[in-house]
Formats: sequence, structure tokens, C-alpha cells
Amino acid sequence: MQRRDNPYTPGAGRRPPCLAGRDRDLDEFSSLIEVLSSRGAERSLVYSGLRGVGKTVLLMEMDILASEAGWATTDVQEVGSQPDFRSTFAQMAARLLREMSRRHRIRDRVERALGVVKAFSVVTPGGVQLKLDVAPIRGVADSGDPEQDLVELLREIGQVAAGAGSGVLFLIDEMQNLDSASLAAVCMAFQAVSRDALPVALVGAGLPDLQVRLMKAKPYADRLFEYRELGRLRNAEAHVALVKPAATLGIDFARNAAAEVVELAAGYPYFLQEYGRELWNAAERSPITLSDVNEVRDLVKEQLAHTFYGTRFQLASDAEQRYLASMASLGDPPYAVAAVARAWGAASQRQTSPHRDSLIQKGLIWSPRRGQVDFTVPLFAEFLLEHHPIGGFGSD
Ligand SMILES: Nc1ncnc2c1ncn2[C@@H]1O[C@H](COP(=O)(O)OP(=O)(O)OP(=O)(O)O)[C@@H](O)[C@H]1O
Ligand SMILES: [Mg+2]
Repeated sequence: MQRRDNPYTPGAGRRPPCLAGRDRDLDEFSSLIEVLSSRGAERSLVYSGLRGVGKTVLLMEMDILASEAGWATTDVQEVGSQPDFRSTFAQMAARLLREMSRRHRIRDRVERALGVVKAFSVVTPGGVQLKLDVAPIRGVADSGDPEQDLVELLREIGQVAAGAGSGVLFLIDEMQNLDSASLAAVCMAFQAVSRDALPVALVGAGLPDLQVRLMKAKPYADRLFEYRELGRLRNAEAHVALVKPAATLGIDFARNAAAEVVELAAGYPYFLQEYGRELWNAAERSPITLSDVNEVRDLVKEQLAHTFYGTRFQLASDAEQRYLASMASLGDPPYAVAAVARAWGAASQRQTSPHRDSLIQKGLIWSPRRGQVDFTVPLFAEFLLEHHPIGGFGSD
């Protein structure tokens, strides 16, 4: 088997040749597009899930479906890198309008809307100035109030789309990066376009606490979006994700070999891709056997420890690493914050709360409910117990 033909796609946001177990999500999305296209009412979608579970690639697939349905899309946009979220929205808006202009002959209408985008971006403090070759149109979306302006910007785009008999899709990844004020503005804007039955949809994705963050930003956010948890694949789906990419190239898996990998990967798509890639490179012939699996097992584990877990562990300060190790020492998740503090060796819970907050900020842990924490990275506890047990941190 040639390395260059390796069909597996371990990594971040790499489209797998077979997107397993997500048919229902894609069907639901298609029906959202259909309903909005005919000016009906349907809620936008917000996905949350652990690292490596397949959020980004699901959004990429939806991007394709929407384009096929004649919609303009923002492409999958990771938010949070710009100091003001409005810069990102201005860029997305300009992109959507240009795409609609290309697809439908509505140049003048788009030009006016681009003028609104320009005025919107001019009032964004410290924002990247968009290179738009149009005069700003004053009086719409340029009050300087982020909520009101975003509402007006989205309405403007929605009206262009409705006029063209099309629709627009915002694909927002790592949405948990947006602060509360930005999330509030996003909620308001999507509420406004949905009230007006405009063909504007959002698919957001983020870490497990995204829903709670949205609800903290706007209490009505619970009714504004459909929330979906993107979880591990079932065994049968994981089996397909593993064997199908090879099968299309004429390479099979022995039944017990596939079952073993499905078990090792615990339903996590990223792990399946890592095993798939290493097996393809190591196996000499079809079918791939259990002894091939045994041969690559340690290599894959080492690789995961180094790249997937190690790099994340290094993001944490010494005290935070100790906090992570304390969590792992407690057994089954979720972990009581008070118990973590005790395992950390803190005299009081307050002593460890800055570490907890910082780890949440860094996206390494999240709080499923008040007084509890859990990891955002699948099987992180197992990694920590093996490589960084709490006993290895000494005592203070
Ligand atoms: N349904 C699936 N079937 C097969 N492989 C998948 C599936 N979903 C994701 N993958 C693979 O899993 C890996 C992780 O996917 P992706 O980057 O979309 O995860 P993510 O949830 O966005 O992770 P992160 O939170 O770190 O951004 C990629 O290697 C991708 O090819
Ligand atoms: Mg992602």
C-alpha cells in the first residue's frame, strides 16, 4: 500500500472521505435550508462537542449542501481571533454579498448593501478596514451600538438574499470564543431575521459549554436555536468510518482487526483517523489484521500523547497542570470542584479557582454545571493518569 494513497485524514478540519454517522444532522440541515428558502420559520442550529469529534468537518459538509441549494455561505469561519467580532461579521457579510452578486444579476442592490457593510465596519473600533470599493451608506448599521448594528446588517443581507430568491448561511466555528456581549448581539440579530422570515441561517459550533454561554448572554437563546450535541460515533458508524476509506481503494480489514480499532478509538472520529493512517502505512497487504493493529498500537498512542494531548497540556501553567492531574485522579467525570481543590492540596476552594477559570478560558476544561468540571478533550484523564499522575507533582 502506497503512503501517498493513504485515504485517512487525521488532523483538524480535514474532510474525511467518509463522514460517518452524521446523516441525521445533514438531513436536518437540508430541511432547514428548504424551509427558510420558502420563507418558512425554522430555528438555526448550534452544535457543541469535545475536541476532535467532528464539528468543523460537519460544518464544511453543510457548506457544500447549502452551496448546492444555491445559497451563499461564509465558508467555515473560526471566530475570536479579531479583537472585535464585528470585523469578522463585516468580512463575512462582504463575502456573502459578493457571492450573491456573482450568482444572481443584482449588482446595484449588492452595491448598496456593501455600502451598509462599509459603514458598519467603519464604526468598529480597531477593526480591520475592509477594502470595499463603495461609498459607505450612512444611517443603517452604523450607530456604534453592536447589537443594533448587527441586527441591521443581517436584515440588509437577508433582504438581498430574499430578493434574489436565495439564502445566506453563516458557519461559525469555535463560537465559544465570542464574549458575552458579542454572543448577545448574534442572538439579537438572528432573532430579528427570523422574525422577518428572512432566508438567513446560522450553524454555530463550539465546545460543550457553548449553549450555556449563549443562554447567559441572552436568556431567550434557549428558544432561538436548536441545540445539538455532537458525540462519539456508535460502533457500527465507527466501523464504517474506519473500513470504508480503505475499502474504496480495495483494501479490507479483518473483522477482529476493525473491532479492535473501534474499541481503541472509543468512537472518537479523530482517533479512528489516526489509527487508520498508521495501519495503512504499516500493513503490507490486504486484509489489515489484528497483528497489524498490535504493531501500530503503541505508535499511535505515543503520537496522540505527543500531539493531541501533550501540546494541550503544555498550554497550562504548572499550577494548572496540577489542577488537571487532580481532576484525573478522581475517577469518573464530572468532577466536583471541591474535591479537585482537595486533591490539588489547596487549603480552600478559593485558592484553586483562578486555575480553574484559566483552564476554562484556555478551553481545556468546562463546567457542565455549577460546582463541577470536566475535560473538553476526549480521554484526557487516561492520558494524565499515565503520563502526569498527581503523585508526580510532589506536595506543597
Ligand atoms: N463523522 C466522521 N467520520 C469520519 N471521520 C471524521 C468524522 N468527523 C470528523 N472526522 C475526522 O476527525 C478529525 C477531527 O475533526 P474536526 O476537526 O472536525 O473536529 P472538531 O470537533 O472540529 O475538533 P476541534 O474541537 O479540535 O476543532 C478529523 O481528522 C476528521 O477527518
Ligand atoms: Mg474544529
